[in-house]
Amino acid sequence: MVAIARILLPAGRELLERRFDLAEGGLDADREQVLKLVPGAAAIVADPTVPVNAELLDAAGDQLRVVSNFAVGYDNVDVDACAERGVVVTNTPDVLTQATAELALTLTLAAARRVSDAERDLRAGRWTGWDPAAYRGLELRGATVGVIGLGRIGGRYAEMVRALGADVVYAGQATKPEYERELGARHLHLDELLQAASVVSLHARASAENHHLIGRRELDLLGPGGVLVNTGRGSLVDSDALASALQDGTLGAAGLDVYEDEPHVPQSLLDAPRCVLLPHIGSASITSRDAMAHLAAENVIAVLDGRDPPSRVA
Ligand code: 8YV
Repeated sequence: MVAIARILLPAGRELLERRFDLAEGGLDADREQVLKLVPGAAAIVADPTVPVNAELLDAAGDQLRVVSNFAVGYDNVDVDACAERGVVVTNTPDVLTQATAELALTLTLAAARRVSDAERDLRAGRWTGWDPAAYRGLELRGATVGVIGLGRIGGRYAEMVRALGADVVYAGQATKPEYERELGARHLHLDELLQAASVVSLHARASAENHHLIGRRELDLLGPGGVLVNTGRGSLVDSDALASALQDGTLGAAGLDVYEDEPHVPQSLLDAPRCVLLPHIGSASITSRDAMAHLAAENVIAVLDGRDPPSRVA
C-alpha cells in the first residue's frame, strides 16, 4: 500500500494506482488522520506541510521503504530518522527550477516596482490622477542583484536577471566557476553582498545554521533602497525584523512566497507597506506541478521495484 499523506495530482496518482493500493489523506488531513493512514504503507508520499519524523515513521511500521517528498526542499523530513530505519528519501528537483525561478523574478519585479501598493490603491479608489512622483521603483538594468544560494533555482534566476541587464553577485559556501564565467557573477561574503546589492533573492536550503539568516542587522545592510525576495523557506528570514524594517523605511521593499509558520502570515507583514505577498506558489505552473507529481510517483515505483530512484536525497 502507498500512503499519500494529503493529495497527489493525477499525473502521478495514475502511475501509482496501476500498481498499488492507495490510501489518501486529502488536502485537509490533520496530523491524527495522517498517522492513521500510514500503518502498513510501503511508501509515503509527503509534501512540505507534512513533518516526516520518528513518530510518523514508527506509525508506518518496519515495511516502509521510501518517503517520496513532493518538493525539492525536504526540510520537513527527518533524514537521519529515515536512514536509521533504512527508509529511502526522494524529492522532485529540476522539474520545478524554471517555474520557481520565474516566480522569484515575478516577485523581484513586482516588489521593485511597488506593484502591490499601486494595485491596492487603485482597487480602493485611492488613485486620484497620474503623479510623476508616485510609486517610483527600481529598474533591474544596471542594478546589482545578490543571489544567496546559487544552486539550480538560484542559478536560473541569476541568468534571468542578467538577461535584464543586472550585475550578479552571490554568497554561499561553494564558488560557482560556471556562473562566474557565463554571467560574470562575483562571489562575496554575505555582509559584502548585502552592502553591494539592491536586490537580494534567497534560494538557500533551510537548515538549523541558516535559521534567520536575514535579521535586523542584515536588513540594515541591505538598506532603504534594497529589495528582499524570498521563494526559499520562511525560516531564512526573521519576519518580525522584516515587517519593522518595512514599516520604519529602513528596507525598500520585499516580495515573499514563503513564511515561517505556513499558512499563517503574521499580521505585521500583512500590514507592511511595499510588500508583495504570495501563498507559496513558487512551483505552481501546470508543467512543473504535473512533472513533480510524475517524478514523485516514479521515485516510489523505482524503490518498490528495487531500483535506484531518479532523485534520491538519502
Ligand atoms: C512546494 C517547494 O513544495 O519544492 C519545494 O521545495 O517549496 C514547492 O515546490 C510545492 O509547491 C508543494 O507544496
